[in-house]
Amino acid sequence: MSDHALETSETPPLAGSKEAMRARPRRERRRRQEGFFGAIPDKAYQEPVFVGRSIFGRWAVVSDPAAVRRVLVEQWANYPKTKMDIEFFNAIFGGGLLGLDGEDWRLHRRIMAPAFDPRTVASYGPAMASTIQSFLARWDALPDEAPIDMSEEMTALTLEVISRTVFSADSGEMGSLVRDVLLRGAETSAAANLLDLAPVIGPWRMRRRKRELAEASRPLDAAIEKLLAERESRGHEGPKDLIDRLMAARDAETGGRLTAKEIRDEIVTIYVAGHETTASTLSWTWYVLSQRPEPLARLQAELDAELGGRAPEPGDLARLPYVRRVVEEAMRLYPAAPGLSSRRAVADDELAGVRIPKGTSVNVLPWIIHRHEQLWEDPETFDPDRFAPERSADRPRFAYLPFGGGPRVCIGQVLAMNESILALAALGQRYSARLAPGADVAPKANITLQFQHGLPMILERRAIARADGKSVAAEAVA
Ligand code: HEM
Repeated sequence: MSDHALETSETPPLAGSKEAMRARPRRERRRRQEGFFGAIPDKAYQEPVFVGRSIFGRWAVVSDPAAVRRVLVEQWANYPKTKMDIEFFNAIFGGGLLGLDGEDWRLHRRIMAPAFDPRTVASYGPAMASTIQSFLARWDALPDEAPIDMSEEMTALTLEVISRTVFSADSGEMGSLVRDVLLRGAETSAAANLLDLAPVIGPWRMRRRKRELAEASRPLDAAIEKLLAERESRGHEGPKDLIDRLMAARDAETGGRLTAKEIRDEIVTIYVAGHETTASTLSWTWYVLSQRPEPLARLQAELDAELGGRAPEPGDLARLPYVRRVVEEAMRLYPAAPGLSSRRAVADDELAGVRIPKGTSVNVLPWIIHRHEQLWEDPETFDPDRFAPERSADRPRFAYLPFGGGPRVCIGQVLAMNESILALAALGQRYSARLAPGADVAPKANITLQFQHGLPMILERRAIARADGKSVAAEAVA
């Protein structure tokens, strides 16, 4: 594999070696970034709290870990998500966790939490692993050196995984109905613009969107209702999927349960929050590995030694610490959620010695925190061993937050990590991928971190070193 791309200006600005970084001043690196990233001044990567003003009022970017803890945990009631953020998700995807706040959010979160605890998530593992194997069979059927768009591939994979996790045997029909709704939701959110903030026209536009989406969602709503009724009458047999768990969940305090409409909204939310983020994580991981031969070789050596050519199973997760570190480090440089939802200060406060008057928009941006010069040594360098236990012990909890933090932390984080590690293990054991010639890889913040021009790559089959020291062609491994 060539390291050539690192020395060209064809690579995205922020994942190079130290030498490449020195050769390319920050300003030049940033020039190629549009929108969100291009607009971030260098100072934001250096100061604990960075404040500014816009036509919407005062805003702050908070990066000091103790101040982040104050915003997300200690004083979280003083920093609720902005109404606009909640309403945006609510208009597009209904009353799932992302589109709720206050008591409604608290109740849903309590009811749903058990379906996402580590033990329950482990029970989704076999369905996850077998879905990944079916996906792999498709790669095996491709000709050698097949050109693919890795970002599209990872999106297809994570959609299949989430469909099987939520619906198991019913995933075919249900999965495609949810996908239709997502597509309409994505069109609607892409059409959002400044007019949505205007006093009279904004609420009218939101209402119109809600109506259109409700129309588009009808087939899904009907199918979910039918499915819930069928499952209710059949009783539960076999291993439970996520929808079974949501149907059976009761609030320990009130005995309350989710209605069919609420389950539908939560499922759409799980798809929205759960597949594009995981696809982004896996895609950026493939990208950084294509740029760094040494971590790739170590990752594949671990896979060969631990698995010896057999398909990884959920029980292998604990035996693949280097794969985990690679994913963690890829999420540091390329957090799938580059910015958490904006929060607004309800009352005056102080963060890291900076006055935060009531009404300030408070922003916690993993993209900036993960590259902050006061928090990380060589922040722009890809170095998975940062996450080795001995190098992580002193790290403040809120210097690294790909899944957010506090009461609104990602509910799916264990699921996402298990899925990412299993997928990277299964695919990376059999394949490497190099950037396609002329590929122009650049980040784009679209709520989740995407690619401005896709991620065109060439798949390379590899020979697996077996435990007995012999080498087997990847295709021959069942
Ligand atoms: C690598 C993959 C993922 C990343 C990086 C990620 C990141 C995040 C982040 C940063 C938040 C908090 C947002 C905020 O505070 O503004 C969040 C919330 C959420 N995530 Fe994830 N997520 C991932 C995968 C998943 C998966 C697989 C699921 C479900 C199966 C999921 C479901 C949710 C839900 C429902 C919320 C809202 C929680 C609430 O407000 O109570 N996420 N995610």
